[in-house]
Amino acid sequence: MASIKVAHLGEVVGRSGRKALFNFLSNFEEQDFLLLNAENAAGGFGLTPRVAEEFFSWGIDCLTLGNHAWSKKEGVEIIANDPRILRPANYPSGVPGRGANIFNTKKGVKIGVINLMGRIFMEPLDSPFSVGERIVEEMRKETPIIIVDFHAEATSEKEALANFLDGKVSAVIGTHTHVQTADERLLPGGTAFITDIGMTGPINSIIGVKKEQVLHRFLHSTPTKFEVAEGPAVVCVLFMEIDAESGKAVSLKRVRVCPSDE
Ligand SMILES: [Fe+2]
Ligand SMILES: [Fe+2]
Repeated sequence: MASIKVAHLGEVVGRSGRKALFNFLSNFEEQDFLLLNAENAAGGFGLTPRVAEEFFSWGIDCLTLGNHAWSKKEGVEIIANDPRILRPANYPSGVPGRGANIFNTKKGVKIGVINLMGRIFMEPLDSPFSVGERIVEEMRKETPIIIVDFHAEATSEKEALANFLDGKVSAVIGTHTHVQTADERLLPGGTAFITDIGMTGPINSIIGVKKEQVLHRFLHSTPTKFEVAEGPAVVCVLFMEIDAESGKAVSLKRVRVCPSDE
């Protein structure tokens, strides 16, 4: 088999995002491996066992997370126990769960997935560069096909990590900002890269949250409760074709479906 098809589904936000994702997956060309960032899946913040099981029943192979990994108490147990769920690998040792794992596809191909988090305008974790490099070296003993979900705020940090790992991983996919960037490309070493894949969540919102609540915080600089918005959702996906022998990306295609396009 020459190549495998992988889709990274953009960060799903709340009920509206889950519904749009389900509809999108019902008219979907079959892929060999499906990844989804699920840090905002349950009520807009965190993940619950019920929501995680729903995603797995839809055929999603791996759930990645980010800074909202810990927002639901009942989610911490599945992060600790389910090897299909990854939280950023550069949390300090002793934090529940794992940040990387190798998956077997139906075609018998091994795919490594690594979840990392940035440090610019985010929590001060271990270096995603040194932690990522160490895991990549270990993984490459088993498979050259490695996907990195880099959950980070700053575009510079995302481009830097992608170029740092170029040629050693199949893809570096940015998540966290919830806004898709139009800069997807193949780096010279064969690594697919996009600064941010964008969210699958309610379009009539501010990055998925009710507009008036976010505006209150900007206008008053005082704490406000944030709740997930409702209504029609945008769907964001990155499709990739990866050479199964070398692990290099062959092609990538960014998709963003707005409710009005349907
Ligand atoms: Fe998010
Ligand atoms: Fe995030």
